Amino acid sequence: MNAKSTGPWPTKMLAILVSIIWTTSLCPVRGKDVAKPASSGLLAQMLNGPLEGVDEIVFATRVSGRDHWYVSFGYYSCDTGPAAERSFGDYPDGETLRGYGDGGRLCRMNLRSGEMQLLIDDPQGGVRDPQVHYDGKKILFSYRKGGTPTYHLYEINIDGTELTQLTDGPDDDIEPTYLPDGGIMFGSSRCRRFVNCWYSRVATLYRCDSDGSNIRMKHPPNKVAAIHDVPSVLDFPRDIQPILNNHCVECHNPDRRDGKVDLSGDHTPKYSNSYWTIVRRGLVADGRNQPYSNRAPRTIGSSASRLMQLSDGSHHGAKLTALERKKMRLWIDTSATYPGTYAALGCGMYPVALPLKTMVNQCGNCHDGKSHEGRMAIKFDSNNLQSRCNLSQPEKSLLLRAPLAKEHGGLGICGQDVFENTDDALYRMMLHAIQGSANRLNTDKRFDMPGFRPNKHYIREMKRFEILPADLGPNEPINVYETDERYWRSFWYTAEQATAFDQTSDKR
Ligand code: HEC
Ligand code: HEC
Repeated sequence: MNAKSTGPWPTKMLAILVSIIWTTSLCPVRGKDVAKPASSGLLAQMLNGPLEGVDEIVFATRVSGRDHWYVSFGYYSCDTGPAAERSFGDYPDGETLRGYGDGGRLCRMNLRSGEMQLLIDDPQGGVRDPQVHYDGKKILFSYRKGGTPTYHLYEINIDGTELTQLTDGPDDDIEPTYLPDGGIMFGSSRCRRFVNCWYSRVATLYRCDSDGSNIRMKHPPNKVAAIHDVPSVLDFPRDIQPILNNHCVECHNPDRRDGKVDLSGDHTPKYSNSYWTIVRRGLVADGRNQPYSNRAPRTIGSSASRLMQLSDGSHHGAKLTALERKKMRLWIDTSATYPGTYAALGCGMYPVALPLKTMVNQCGNCHDGKSHEGRMAIKFDSNNLQSRCNLSQPEKSLLLRAPLAKEHGGLGICGQDVFENTDDALYRMMLHAIQGSANRLNTDKRFDMPGFRPNKHYIREMKRFEILPADLGPNEPINVYETDERYWRSFWYTAEQATAFDQTSDKR
């Protein structure tokens, strides 16, 4: 290594922070290899410019095609079913996909000569996040050894000798970096948390000494204080629907649709009538799925939500109590989500298999998403159709009643009686399909129904985090709200943690 010691880098070696995807042109074969040195183009420009003092880089390669943006490390667990149907193929333990799958390499390359050296080549392992030490003599990185499930911190000399494991345990340690005081900072899933997107494991910041000992959290978490008299996490069917039942549903239900509005809690294939109404009519300003985020003050959240105005007494006398208003406000300001439990993820949706072709034939020339004499006829896309199916009372589905003649229980709102009566063949087919989904809902349940049991991924993770007992029987009931609460309380900042942290704080 004979570079000038100028430039921002203390050594001439630089670690590429992002792993480089394994491509044939970049991937070294065995031992030493020579790639074409750059004489022109962007690399040459860099080497003569910002990388002037740099000769070599260190990088990790990974095998692409087994990744998902939720697979940041560890595993992505909800990709189930027969191997052939899984997006990522088969994986060893039968039900979880590991990110950065088999085939990890740590490489060192001279950008000027093109010479490449393979420091680690583990066909069953995974390598990521290399960092070169300030002294230019060793490399710190995260490594999952072939045949093992978790990533840990390792060090190796820059010539590939003295591979040393620094951390161990059942959780993943990733993205390490050397600190100026000689310690190491890294992300770790030893915090034992997942996020609601496919139960992906997440990491928080930790630090340890240079030999991997004395692991502790980087910062104690803030103390969490519960808000008096409202649940810690709000759940639409449990906490908000009863408020609508008290103040709105008498005028807004499947039979009395004042202003064409239904705020009843009847189940639809996903969500409920009321939740769809709220979303479709934009009654809460939650900013979801908007391609921008830089908003003017008070244009998002409860202060900008019509639902709060409609329930302040000005609309047909509907006036919430102070506690109801508080709940509704907090529900909106915590994103107005439908389920208030992680257990709802990946289950409880029962799409109706509607006879779409026949429907488009018989309804389609009006239902084109355009205005007909000033009246908008919805387009028959999936959300529009599914959200108008009522699984709690199939015959009350708007999809059946809008085109049905009034004298046969319909609403007759299509402008002509498309279904003269309920013997109509298409009416029967649609009703049959809706009843099919209703039966599945009643058998397999949803999080807000008695007898609901969460899917195996939720149960597996909660056992792994020791929130549910390891020997929980396959049919034992699970109170998901209590389980969730034990789970999130497990990362609350407690007195014992405070003491543990103080004991190590002199080492910071
Ligand atoms: C006593 C009957 C009654 C009650 C109670 C009632 N509404 Fe209404 N609502 C109506 C009528 C009538 C209309 C149509 C005419 C109008 O807009 O006033 C309407 C219209 C609406 C509309 C559509 C028009 C708009 O402004 O967007 C929404 C949304 C709505 N109501 C929400 C609610 C909510 C939320 C509640 C409960 C907090 C509620 N309503 C309570 C009678 C009622
Ligand atoms: C003659 C044209 C016409 C035909 C045929 C027709 N519709 Fe409609 N439909 C309309 C119009 C216009 C509206 C809007 C009425 C309004 O909002 O005042 C409507 C409203 C609806 C709505 C209510 C949407 C909402 O949420 O407000 C549903 C559901 C519906 N139609 C379903 C059907 C189905 C299913 C068929 C076929 C079996 C059908 N329609 C056939 C014209 C038609």
